[in-house]
Amino acid sequence: MRLAGKVTLITGAAQGIGAATARRFASEGAAVFIADVKAAEGQALAAELDAKGNRAWFLLLDVRSESDWARALETVAAHAGRLDVLLCNAGVNIREPIEQMSEASLDTMLAVNIKGTFLGIKHALPLLRRGGGGTILITSSIAGLVGHRYTTEAYTMAKGALTLLTRDPQRRAERLAEVPLGRMASVDDVASAFVYLASDEAAFINGVALPVDGGLTAG
Ligand SMILES: NC(=O)c1ccc[n+]([C@@H]2O[C@H](COP(=O)([O-])OP(=O)(O)OC[C@H]3O[C@@H](n4cnc5c(N)ncnc54)[C@H](O)[C@@H]3O)[C@@H](O)[C@H]2O)c1
Repeated sequence: MRLAGKVTLITGAAQGIGAATARRFASEGAAVFIADVKAAEGQALAAELDAKGNRAWFLLLDVRSESDWARALETVAAHAGRLDVLLCNAGVNIREPIEQMSEASLDTMLAVNIKGTFLGIKHALPLLRRGGGGTILITSSIAGLVGHRYTTEAYTMAKGALTLLTRDPQRRAERLAEVPLGRMASVDDVASAFVYLASDEAAFINGVALPVDGGLTAG
């Protein structure tokens, strides 16, 4: 098992990429703290993992709140005594172009995507250090590496995230045509990268932005 004995905390883990990564981390032997604002989904996932014999807990955490972060890290320390991997994955995308975006929407975009990540790292560092070091992972986006026409300005500004899936078939076909591998990423494609980066196999890899994009930014 590639993450045996590691204690991990994943934000935005109640669904999507975060939930897929929580399942993979657990199957690789990690203890997983599932942090999210969605209590019902997060608790259900923790119970699912628990029932399979994994160590999993749900943490009610709004990443925008400093007091929530302080409480969450206290809980991790109390239950596990250490933290090895912090995955800042929680994110939002309010798809409003710059001329239509309200101040409130902009504040939300910046608070969840940027401030939430900053606060998480700030509060996790002491516990990561206590265990002799650890790994900090952030779910970013290919739009943080190259400009992309389907990304609205606030999202690009906040974290450059790309919306990979859409219900508009025309746009979906156009997007697909951009991906050399000819398919959209699955949540497991992303979770697999996180398993590797969280494991000791990636111990000498630091400060990289790793695109999980089917070659989109390669050319
Ligand atoms: N899905 C994609 O195509 C894609 C592409 C590039 C990057 N990303 C990034 O990957 C991450 C996960 O994306 P996803 O597609 O799984 O999204 P998702 O919307 O399915 O899940 C996001 C999770 O974050 C949680 N969340 C939102 N605000 C929060 C807050 N304030 N505090 C705590 N939790 C909060 C939500 O409750 C949800 O469970 C995001 O950061 C997103 O920007 C996604």
